[in-house]
Amino acid sequence: MRLDKFICKSTELTRNEAKKLLKSGEVRVNGEVAKNPAMQVHENNDITVDGQTLTARTSRYFMLHKVADSICSNVDEIYPSVLHFLDVDRAFDLHIAGRLDADTTGLVLITDDGRWSHNVISPKKDCKKVYRVWLRDAIPTEKAEALIEHFTQGIQLQGESSLTRPAVLEIVTDTDNDTSNINVDNRANEVLLTITEGKYHQVKRMFAAVGNRVVGLHREQIGEIKLADLSAGEWRELTAEEVALFN
Ligand code: URA
Repeated sequence: MRLDKFICKSTELTRNEAKKLLKSGEVRVNGEVAKNPAMQVHENNDITVDGQTLTARTSRYFMLHKVADSICSNVDEIYPSVLHFLDVDRAFDLHIAGRLDADTTGLVLITDDGRWSHNVISPKKDCKKVYRVWLRDAIPTEKAEALIEHFTQGIQLQGESSLTRPAVLEIVTDTDNDTSNINVDNRANEVLLTITEGKYHQVKRMFAAVGNRVVGLHREQIGEIKLADLSAGEWRELTAEEVALFN
């Protein structure tokens, strides 16, 4: 990680304060004075300030059931950041691994481990994200097969040069397992969509590209991590097994 980030993770200093400290020449990496905040360092480097060795705090990993009218950002805008829901120290030092729109509900992963969140987000890692989607127009039974094939082959989104990666579309017929808090009467309009990338407004744009419209969106799963019975607005730490899935 960057040296200035390492200093933040091992002290109470902010990023700006860490940079000032570096400028002062008091920081050494393996005995050499280090002034470049962008210098890449590892946990096994000996990093000292005034002769005292720094030890980075261990990384933190959480899941949150995002409610509508909250945003996946570290700053509040029209709606408050989802980080307000996390009742932990220095919540705003964390970041969101895979954003949801303000009106989307469901599973959000939150961490301060950039390499881990890269593994969640990068399309190259092929991590599946499962969304429950409510549509304006029900999919007629006779058109379902062709639509499922279209989603498998890839959808041409407006403004994109390549097709979407293969996606799995399932028409939901059994609503007994519906864990969302969205109240939509017409259950014939409900589908599950699994994608492995996260283009801007991807799910909404995929359905817009086939002439439909998303009226409710809820993320249920990222990789093998499931929201399961976590209530809306609730959060919990990830288990060691869940963290290991993206290491
Ligand atoms: N796709 C969308 O369109 N919105 C989201 O919030 C997530 C995926």
